[in-house]
Amino acid sequence: MSFPTILESISDLNREQIEHLLISSKTKINLTDNGQYWERYTSKFKTKPIISTFFFEPSTRTKNSFLVAALRSGCHTLDFKADESSIKKGEQLDETIKTLKYQGVELIIIRSNKANILNEFKINPIIPMINGGDGSNQHPTQALTDLFTALNLKHIKENQNLLIVGDAKYSRVIHSLIPMFKLWNINILISTLSYFLPNDMDNIEYIEDINQALAKADMVYILRPQIERHTSDSDEYKEIFNELVSKYKITAKRLNNLNKFVPIYHPGPANIGVEIDEEIIKSKNYQAYQQVKHSIFMRMSLIEESILNYRKPR
Ligand code: CP
Repeated sequence: MSFPTILESISDLNREQIEHLLISSKTKINLTDNGQYWERYTSKFKTKPIISTFFFEPSTRTKNSFLVAALRSGCHTLDFKADESSIKKGEQLDETIKTLKYQGVELIIIRSNKANILNEFKINPIIPMINGGDGSNQHPTQALTDLFTALNLKHIKENQNLLIVGDAKYSRVIHSLIPMFKLWNINILISTLSYFLPNDMDNIEYIEDINQALAKADMVYILRPQIERHTSDSDEYKEIFNELVSKYKITAKRLNNLNKFVPIYHPGPANIGVEIDEEIIKSKNYQAYQQVKHSIFMRMSLIEESILNYRKPR
């Protein structure tokens, strides 16, 4: 199975490659019932690779999930601190990456506030790189984790409705999640203010009224307002955010009015009391901790595929 040396976007993977990642991740989760799992897990690497996180933006879930997944897969890990590096002295990114390569690093997980930061490496890759989130562009490994969680826990299947609520304009997760769930023939519905709709609404149903949208949903995916991506702090702009929160917050009352169980997903970090009520976080509907747990298995598979493919003789 081939694997892209630079995984920037979900479109860098085809359905066959995604299915392979899902199967590989599933074999890892099946073993967790036994407490001895990690001790029994056989690393797929003959020699221990070094992988490095390379984050220009804060992260709790993605960075630690990759670091834990790397340890579980039998890798050494480095957490490269860009802000304490020679990048601060003007070194170009490709020079820094080359330096890490010659120090022995075999995979970099990068996060940046700049969209398409990985583009320049696609033609002549220096070493494998995986996008851990670039501006509002893409977050492919979060989307893969979410598909894996939803299928494994049987929260959604073909022809059912995934409802996205909140800031779908600036969320990078959603730009990866929507095309991938469409590839699995899952219908995409969005309920938000029209201001927060993504540019590409092809084959997406817009339902302005949140209660009508929830009634049609089989699974709900909540997005926080991406305040750091917006440039304006005008009063008009603050009003739009306040309107988003007052009209689209997912509350226990809204869910109780539905006579069905609806799993609630959130990529995190959740702003409790803003886009989601505390009661929901504590309820059985809330799946964010399952997403975190499943992320380790999916990211182990990503690390394994990425490095093994790169090590193949060419
Ligand atoms: N989901 C996600 O990207 O969360 P972090 O910002 O905590 O990594």
